[in-house]
Amino acid sequence: MKRALKLVGLILLIILALLIIGGLFINYQGIPTYDVQKIDHQVISTPESIERGKKLVSMLCANCHKDHQTGKLTGTRMPDAPAEFGVIYSQNITQDKKYGIGEWTDGEILYLLRTGIKKDGKYAPPYMAKLPTMADEDIDAIISYLKSGDEMVAADPTPDYPCEPSLLTKILCRVAFKPLPFPAAKIELPDTSDKVALGKYLAHNLDCFSCHSADFKTNDFLQPELSAGYFGGGNLPLNLEGQLMPTSNLTPDMETGIGTWTAEQFVKAVKNGFVEGQEALRYPMTPYVYLTDDEAKAIYLYLKSIPSIKNKVDRAVIG
Ligand code: HEC
Ligand code: HEC
Repeated sequence: MKRALKLVGLILLIILALLIIGGLFINYQGIPTYDVQKIDHQVISTPESIERGKKLVSMLCANCHKDHQTGKLTGTRMPDAPAEFGVIYSQNITQDKKYGIGEWTDGEILYLLRTGIKKDGKYAPPYMAKLPTMADEDIDAIISYLKSGDEMVAADPTPDYPCEPSLLTKILCRVAFKPLPFPAAKIELPDTSDKVALGKYLAHNLDCFSCHSADFKTNDFLQPELSAGYFGGGNLPLNLEGQLMPTSNLTPDMETGIGTWTAEQFVKAVKNGFVEGQEALRYPMTPYVYLTDDEAKAIYLYLKSIPSIKNKVDRAVIG
């Protein structure tokens, strides 16, 4: 009996030692590296594409990459990244050659935005956005804006801080989070005369679904409709104080969703950040001032066409 116990103890000790060695190894190795596929891609900029890119970058990238003191995309500490992920800094993405992305080719930027693999092969964990379903034309617009010299992205030599991902992030990046595949075919823009199709494209590519479904962990970024609780709300992004902010149910359910809302109410909520008779919408639901009324209305029409989910979400902040 004693011998058997000793043996069990020894085995447990060996397992523990192996776990510690494995943990130290992963901690030392850091975020995994992947092969970078060379993408031969040259974006042709026009004044229209730069303007379109500015609008997309303002809605999709500035929230994280902007220094709110200078208004430039020189990166900042992200207070709303979950603390378990480590200390996270968004990076300088101005045209500065040393600290920014002045030396990145169009193909390298495209490859990162599609797959999550950076120029040096390192994988950018989920705290950096990816655009797997955006139309080629829109991604090109983003790239032309990043290279445009506009004041938000003009070269600025502000050094950026490297992220300090936690051991948990490093482990998850080996077992759970993986780069996305580079699209095999061109992704076309939706037909803008089909409002529901346009609304679906915007609801997916402006990331509305990722916050407004059940949980970041069960979102499907390649096929957003397959995300658990698609647009049924209840996901818990963080606010700037690190508290959990429940997201609203945007399905057409009559009691718990937006079934009784008019298009005007919806447009006002999304663009101006307030709903009649209620406290203003709070961070991270920032007003989408760049959306046209037509685009916000298209999102509304699409949301009215998806299956209802009955899920009452309380607006109270948690934590
Ligand atoms: C939710 C926050 C968030 C959003 C939204 C976001 N980023 Fe990032 N981005 C980050 C973080 C954090 C990093 C650093 C990742 C790392 O250390 O691997 C990063 C890294 C990058 C890098 C690599 C920079 C370098 O020097 O290594 C580029 C380029 C970039 N982002 C561009 C963009 C663009 C373009 C958009 C909009 C389409 C965008 N990001 C949206 C947080 C974000
Ligand atoms: C970063 C996460 C996030 C993203 C992205 C996001 N939302 Fe929200 N949204 C929220 C949160 C959180 C609330 C609740 C805010 C509150 O209670 O003050 C909210 C509230 C709303 C409301 C109010 C609903 C109600 O019942 O009061 C509407 C409408 C809305 N969002 C639409 C959108 C649309 C459309 C998009 C995309 C263009 C979008 N949201 C993107 C987090 C997000």
